[in-house]
Amino acid sequence: MNDYGSDNKSAQQARSDAQKIAFAPMMFQAARVMRNQGILNALEVNRAKGMTIEETAKYCSLPYHGTKVLLEAGISLEIVYVKNNKFFLTKTGWFLLKDDLTNVNIDFTHDVNYLGFFDLEKSITNEKPEGLKVFGQWETIYEALSELPENVQSSWFKFDHYYSDIAFPEVLPVVFEQNPKKILDVGGNTGKFAINCCKYNNDAHVTILDLPGQLKKADKNIKEYGYESRIEGCPVNLLDSSKPFPGRYDIVWMSQFLDCFSQKDILHLLTRGRNALNNNGSLYILETFWDKQKHPAAMYSLHAISLYFVCLANGCSQMYHSGDMLKLVEKAGMYVDKIIYNIGISHTLFICKPKK
Ligand SMILES: C[S@@+](CC[C@H](N)C(=O)[O-])C[C@H]1O[C@@H](n2cnc3c(N)ncnc32)[C@H](O)[C@@H]1O
Repeated sequence: MNDYGSDNKSAQQARSDAQKIAFAPMMFQAARVMRNQGILNALEVNRAKGMTIEETAKYCSLPYHGTKVLLEAGISLEIVYVKNNKFFLTKTGWFLLKDDLTNVNIDFTHDVNYLGFFDLEKSITNEKPEGLKVFGQWETIYEALSELPENVQSSWFKFDHYYSDIAFPEVLPVVFEQNPKKILDVGGNTGKFAINCCKYNNDAHVTILDLPGQLKKADKNIKEYGYESRIEGCPVNLLDSSKPFPGRYDIVWMSQFLDCFSQKDILHLLTRGRNALNNNGSLYILETFWDKQKHPAAMYSLHAISLYFVCLANGCSQMYHSGDMLKLVEKAGMYVDKIIYNIGISHTLFICKPKK
């Protein structure tokens, strides 16, 4: 691995930053409650004059004391500032209120992760998603998805789709450069990519491999678009490495998928993917590698999401470093023919071919 990070803060700065970590979960909740209870919105609506605590409490129909402690916490969170006894929204506060990326991440953190993260320590030592137990008894979150409480499912899918929805329109011209007719979408989820392919190209046929719960949602969406004759779903537990993928395909597509598996399982999946290709076929990997991010906030987010994989998803996977994936592609008997960086918000596309 290359060098990452540094240690050149002053001791005072370092100690101050340590306190931010010490109180982060409480301050996260304060910010979320300020968004949910309309305090951030009140300050945005009244941005010209600002608002006193009393005015904010009245506007939001909240008790005075609760409003007071939230607004004061907001000063330290740098989401509000005070001038002449009036509170104003900062730019960070505005992003908490209005920015889709921020809100998708906040809801994912709260609805999917917050309670379960009490057991991060156990998840690390036991190599199991111990946090998932707050919702029920499953080995992985993928088996659980269709049975999770409505708000948890909603935040999970919005989080997953937010990133891939932005990436798909950018990759479709690349995917269809070689005029593929048969595509295998491994971990195709609710069918979004398959439907996008059919809209983009009239000749495309797509097979989706995923768990039965997700394929039920996919079937509904496919019917809505009238693509039943061009998209088929195959229910399968892809962790069973004794089961080969169906063959043969011009493209095997794996988007935001391999990060759901341990390195050992990725090797099996890539090998089965390679074996499902026809003579000139290629295997496409669309992933968010933490070392390939332009913005520090993206790397920060991906490192946090790796913890979700350990604590909630399956105990054994993560958002990978691109070097980890390159080694696995090699081991699976392929080479990376082309790499496209900076797709969507944070994705990289590897186009892999079998070694001759
Ligand atoms: C993070 S989602 C990615 C969805 C989609 N490809 C995208 O780009 O948005 C991973 C998908 O892999 C599926 N998956 C995870 N583990 C699986 C397993 N053992 N067998 C079948 N599918 C699995 C999940 O159900 C889910 O639909």
